[in-house]
Amino acid sequence: MILVTGALGQIGTELVLALQEKYGKDKIIASDLKEPGNYNGEFVKCDVTDLNSYDKINDENGIKIVYHLAAILSATGEKNPELCRKVNVNGLENVLKVAKKCNQRLFCPSSIAVFGPDVPRENTPQNVELNPETVYGITKVKGEELCDLYFNEHNIDVRGIRYPGLISWKHRPTGGTTDYAVEMYFDAIENGKYECFVSEDTRLPMMFMDDAIRATLELMDAPLDSLNYHSNYNLSSMSFSAKELADEISSHIDFECTYQPDYRQDIANTWPISINDEDARNDWKWEPKFDISKMTEEMITNLRRLNE
Ligand code: NAD
Ligand code: SER
Repeated sequence: MILVTGALGQIGTELVLALQEKYGKDKIIASDLKEPGNYNGEFVKCDVTDLNSYDKINDENGIKIVYHLAAILSATGEKNPELCRKVNVNGLENVLKVAKKCNQRLFCPSSIAVFGPDVPRENTPQNVELNPETVYGITKVKGEELCDLYFNEHNIDVRGIRYPGLISWKHRPTGGTTDYAVEMYFDAIENGKYECFVSEDTRLPMMFMDDAIRATLELMDAPLDSLNYHSNYNLSSMSFSAKELADEISSHIDFECTYQPDYRQDIANTWPISINDEDARNDWKWEPKFDISKMTEEMITNLRRLNE
């Protein structure tokens, strides 16, 4: 059986569907702190910061693989550092403890937020000193370290990707800094305009969700002995400025974007512009399929359909 924590979030919404398709609906248990609404499949309410109840859910369901997506993202984390540390670090510790007890395989994502402002911001390498300035980034570095510790000292097969900002149409994200790129599409379709919370020249690494889900499944399927890293693979597909994205959307629909940077600009300013992912490409043959124009066609087609 496979458990997905944080399953009602931006990634979980799509990863659960992909896992159901790959392994069968009866093999996947989705879980989250929130109530599921009209979720189609097996769901159990679960707070990962509560070790006893998390342990019980794993025991009772014979869980052998966990996709651990429960987390607090960067913008919410900056506003509520204590909650961010509790969920991202203590919650992960609980997941790792149970993985050790039940001999589970794990997927625990990291983020481009692990990089601070003092690394090369263009083509940021896999191996650099990690000195993030954001609370979220600090918790993500701690997460990578904990995962490596469990891999090295307890033989837990734990894998993870430093996802770039993810763009998707099935779920409108909240709480992240890269959310502006998703909101721009949603608001363009719904209102024809968007006020962007970062400046027009803000350039960050981004990825379409279909590529991110495929990367996740491919990494989990890769032979262990082909992997030179575990919880912290750099992954890349595209980078663009907020204005380049707005221009791309405007080439399809009548759309006006204005820029009103807020506290999230300071977070974005400390993150890389582009990522070097040659280790993922070498070790498990990662290759992205979506660029900005192919992604924009998919986003607009699907959001238009949903708004009809
Ligand atoms: P999200 O915020 O959309 O979803 C997280 C889910 O976790 C939410 O549904 C929330 O209810 C749940 N949750 C929060 N606290 C919980 C708790 N104590 N117990 C159980 N569930 C809890 O996040 P996401 O975008 O789906 O991100 C998933 C993972 O991927 C996170 O580790 C995040 O850091 C990482 N990541 C995401 C992105 C991105 O652009 N979406 C980029 C880089 C890394
Ligand atoms: N997309 C995430 C965020 O903005 C990065 O990990 O918080």
